[in-house]
Amino acid sequence: MTRLTAPDILRMKAANQRIAMVTAYDFSMARLMDRAGADMVLVGDSLGMVIQGESDTLRVTLDEMAYHGRCVARGLERAHLTIDMPFMSYQLSPTQALENAGKLVQNGRAQAVKLEGGVRSAPAIRACVEAGIPVVGHVGLTPQSVHAFGGFKVQGRGDEAADRIRADALAVQEAGAFCVVFEMIPAALAAELTKTLSIPTIGIGAGVDCDGQVLVCNDLLGLDERFKPRFVKRFAELAGAVEAATGAYVAEVRAGTFPAAEHTFDTSGKLYSGGK
Ligand code: KIV
Repeated sequence: MTRLTAPDILRMKAANQRIAMVTAYDFSMARLMDRAGADMVLVGDSLGMVIQGESDTLRVTLDEMAYHGRCVARGLERAHLTIDMPFMSYQLSPTQALENAGKLVQNGRAQAVKLEGGVRSAPAIRACVEAGIPVVGHVGLTPQSVHAFGGFKVQGRGDEAADRIRADALAVQEAGAFCVVFEMIPAALAAELTKTLSIPTIGIGAGVDCDGQVLVCNDLLGLDERFKPRFVKRFAELAGAVEAATGAYVAEVRAGTFPAAEHTFDTSGKLYSGGK
């Protein structure tokens, strides 16, 4: 099977096909997300929170993003792979952005990179696009600016704030991004911009009228029973299932009932077949 490309994703908007994007951070999860039909897989810097256990995304490094990118890429047959550019890997200059985006392509196997910020990140986006690296924009709540926002808060409420989001979204498109993530903005604003822009919009906490949606895989699978923001729908409750399965394993180890005969090798090195 061939992998989807940035032009394929762009064409999905014209064809009125909704785009399903999901994050993944390792081979096993990426393989399952790909088999389930996700169009785009994102190695998000949310890995700082869901994989590394930090309270924000600010300490994730470029090398860590590339490492997780390689792991995820091996699991994909069809889905397109985008890797986030982490905090301070693109803010200094367009040259820095291009150099580091190139590393994510070469060392992380990214087909595209994602940069946070609209107007302020446009020169960095343009530098990458002109060098042949597809870019996904990200406006609204940009988690790398959590300290400036004073927390993970809805953006674009009120006329002035909405105008800033409009300008950001347009700047991202004009700089050459092939799609844009809208995070935590009012649904009506996301709907308006989805009509205005020619590139696909991918929402997270931005309502149903975006061209696509993205969720963090751990959130949609319910892998952390403590975390349930309004915009997350849990499509499974795996935290309980994982705990129950591991608890059953622990109990069987303690009781001496695991491993049983069928999990055991005989002296010829073959799996003991229980006499069959
Ligand atoms: O880091 C991430 O996972 C993201 C998505 C939530 C869009 O940026």
